[in-house]
Amino acid sequence: MRNIVLFGPPGAGKGTQSQKLIDKYGFIHLSTGDLLRAEIAAQTPLGMEAKKLMDKGELVPDQVVIGMIGHKVEANPQAPGFIFDGFPRTVAQAQALDQLLQANGTAIAGMVALEVVEDELVKRLLLRGATSGRSDDQDEGTIRRRFNEYQAKTLPVAEYYKGQAKYQAINGIGEVEEIFGSLCQVIEKL
Ligand code: AP5
Ligand code: MG
Repeated sequence: MRNIVLFGPPGAGKGTQSQKLIDKYGFIHLSTGDLLRAEIAAQTPLGMEAKKLMDKGELVPDQVVIGMIGHKVEANPQAPGFIFDGFPRTVAQAQALDQLLQANGTAIAGMVALEVVEDELVKRLLLRGATSGRSDDQDEGTIRRRFNEYQAKTLPVAEYYKGQAKYQAINGIGEVEEIFGSLCQVIEKL
């Protein structure tokens, strides 16, 4: 199994590039953001609780997302690999993921970070917000709060993988295809 953490701030292109990786390599995509939005759409109690935090641009509790990921990993023992998108977002989540994968006889092969400057991220998210209906893309204040959460809680996750010599970064600005090419080069060497 080739399990990859696709890392980067809100709007870096994790979802966009994940879709292309799935099409090319047949990986299973695990996006905690997408899973949470599905819970909101289904109006589950979990979704309703998560929505309050997501609308403010804050992270949901670790136990909630760890539980979601656990079910998906256990349900797909034959997968060629998993793409983790938007997870792990805290060091506690990264530790839980290592334990979960170990219990399933596998591990993270590497983290690949998409590097994009903040002005470009704001531009992308506001543009998407005009049509997507994502409530956390609607105003710059909420977008900035997502960046603050990223700086405070999520950036340490990059250090966690650097400590395991599993971290690599690529330029996330430019044409989607060009970025995908760089990403594939890194992934094929893992
Ligand atoms: P989540 O859904 O993960 O959102 P996010 O991290 O804020 O990131 P986005 O999905 O907005 O960006 P992306 O990097 O996927 O970029 P995309 O490809 O879409 O999380 C949402 C919320 O859920 C969190 O705030 C939190 O509350 C909660 N949550 C989720 N996971 C959690 C966890 N593990 N723990 C706790 N809480 C959690 O691209 C963005 C836009 O840019 C698109 O419109 C796209 O078309 C465009 N674009 C992409 N690439 C390019 C390019 N190269 N050039 C120009 N435009 C581009
Ligand atoms: Mg996304």
